[in-house]
Amino acid sequence: MYSEKVMDHFQHPRNVGEIENASGVGTVGNAKCGDIMRMYLDIDENGVIKEAKFKTFGCGAAVATSSMATELVKGKTIQEALEVTNKAVMEALDGLPPVKVHCSLLAEEAIHAALWDYAQKNGIEIEGLKKPKSDIHEGEEEESEEY
Ligand code: FES
Repeated sequence: MYSEKVMDHFQHPRNVGEIENASGVGTVGNAKCGDIMRMYLDIDENGVIKEAKFKTFGCGAAVATSSMATELVKGKTIQEALEVTNKAVMEALDGLPPVKVHCSLLAEEAIHAALWDYAQKNGIEIEGLKKPKSDIHEGEEEESEEY
């Protein structure tokens, strides 16, 4: 039911861990299953992503998609990284079963949340990037005005 690539990235996930003093950190939750993903990005002065790492309390598909997503964004500019959608990640993994598609959204949203954090810290705006909806701020229960 899973492609070989999915199994490979699940069994040997790339880029698991944290980045100390990361340029941006994003934590998101998946509304469907309640799983959580945290993404760390290290971005240089030219806006190129040097390093990407993740930690997840997600399922195997979340691990595989985040592993692939971090591989795909490394070496990319911020604008290019925004094009690493969950669809692009799924294609790179030769597909996911339909019931697992939502898991791949965790990686995409966590990257966006980390980029949002980076933009906030640097007082910049990233074209095409919206505040991630499922952003979870540590230590505060979000009283969201959006809902
Ligand atoms: Fe929650 Fe896959 S079931 S991330």
